[in-house]
Amino acid sequence: MTDKYLTLVNSGPAGKVARKLGLPKPAVLRRYRHGAPLVPGPLLVLGSTAAADSLATELLGWDQDVRRHARPGEKLGAIVVVLEHLADPGELAAPVLELGQALRQLERGGRIVTVSRPARETANPAEAAARQGVDGIVRSIGRELRAGATANGIVLRDGAPITAAAGTLRFLLSGKSAFVNGQFITVGDAGQDATQDEDRPLQGQTAVVTGAARGIGAEIAAVLSRDGASVVVVDVPAAGEQLAAVANRIGGTALQLDITADDAAARILDHVQQRYGSLDLLVHNAGITRDKLLANMDSARWNSVLAVNLASQLRVNESLLASDVFAASGRIVCLASTSGIAGNRGQSNYAASKAGVIGMVRSTGSSLEGTGRTINAVAPGFIETEMTARMPFATREVARRLSSLQQGGQPIDVAEAIAFLASPAAAGVNGEVVRVCGQSLVGA
Ligand code: NAI
Repeated sequence: MTDKYLTLVNSGPAGKVARKLGLPKPAVLRRYRHGAPLVPGPLLVLGSTAAADSLATELLGWDQDVRRHARPGEKLGAIVVVLEHLADPGELAAPVLELGQALRQLERGGRIVTVSRPARETANPAEAAARQGVDGIVRSIGRELRAGATANGIVLRDGAPITAAAGTLRFLLSGKSAFVNGQFITVGDAGQDATQDEDRPLQGQTAVVTGAARGIGAEIAAVLSRDGASVVVVDVPAAGEQLAAVANRIGGTALQLDITADDAAARILDHVQQRYGSLDLLVHNAGITRDKLLANMDSARWNSVLAVNLASQLRVNESLLASDVFAASGRIVCLASTSGIAGNRGQSNYAASKAGVIGMVRSTGSSLEGTGRTINAVAPGFIETEMTARMPFATREVARRLSSLQQGGQPIDVAEAIAFLASPAAAGVNGEVVRVCGQSLVGA
């Protein structure tokens, strides 16, 4: 579904009227295009430590135009602020105020990315305060930026070298993270080479996407295929025709299956083993809503939502993780939702299922630590799909404008985050929940 207001305010005179009336003026976001530069201008690296120097050198190796100080009047494509050394809140002032001075030079669709250390991994209160302070800074900048620019942070686990941040940094700088704003991704040292073919990072891999006949699932399948994966698309038999069309479009195979069936995992593993040999990625995307205020909730609504959105994922994961068909470096990515973080009126069943997914991902993530396999979740906010097109007009308009980017996301934004988590570049990301919500006020 298209956002007609966004199209209108970005077409000449209507934009001026909107500005005069003080109406929101959502920007057309900078999304990934093959062959387009990683960032729309020179990249400024702030920070005076050896780690900042190594990150600047890494970025030079990506053929970026790197600056260590802003040049007056020069537009910047992105600013990376290296804060991994912080030991006291007093150390925040210099780099953050320098960032403030450079903000006006940021291009449309520019990026701010901080690199810091986790507050919970230090027992020193001043150090923890300084580290946690970065959280407030990034989330505030995300709300201040305009013209489709975003601010996000990488939290580098203690002991991980600065270079471990590289893969996640590339995602956050790129147009692939267009609707990710005000978020933090924690990264550990995967202890493996995360270099990849940037055009086809999933080349030679096999992926399964559930609920892929339409909406976000169909887009995930298309992006994984673009990135080189062979994709098996799964959906219920009733969606068979649409599913076959998706499979044909991307040169994948279709598997008609109700994901709540007892033998769902066995059928997925059989299908993959027979046609492709092994499975590298499973995306748990199938999901349903059956909204009702809790006072009016019946067991059918409650049980069906929990069965599709959560119980099926738990059961399939158990079989997958016990199977040799699932690769030693296998990835699982689950669809959560901002409803599972903030709750939502009329969605106690849906929010329980999506919060449950987050709990499952954190627990399974801990048990996978150091094994080479990872599990992560993506929590979308308001995304323009058939599901949200059915919302009443006023509710939909409010939901769209409630984010810092003043618009809903597109299915491609969710798909890009999933493709990143599936890629070699995300080997050090495990047990994380990445919100793709434009920094929605919901659950902020
Ligand atoms: P959608 O309703 O357009 O598509 C869901 C697909 O899952 C459908 O093709 C459906 O047939 C399939 N499905 C349902 N039950 C199934 C089952 N038992 N077995 C196999 N397939 C089944 O939904 P949409 O909007 O594309 O959402 C995809 C995922 O993203 C869901 O998990 C949803 O909860 C999540 N999400 C969506 C948001 C949005 O704004 N659209 C926001 C937050 C999360």
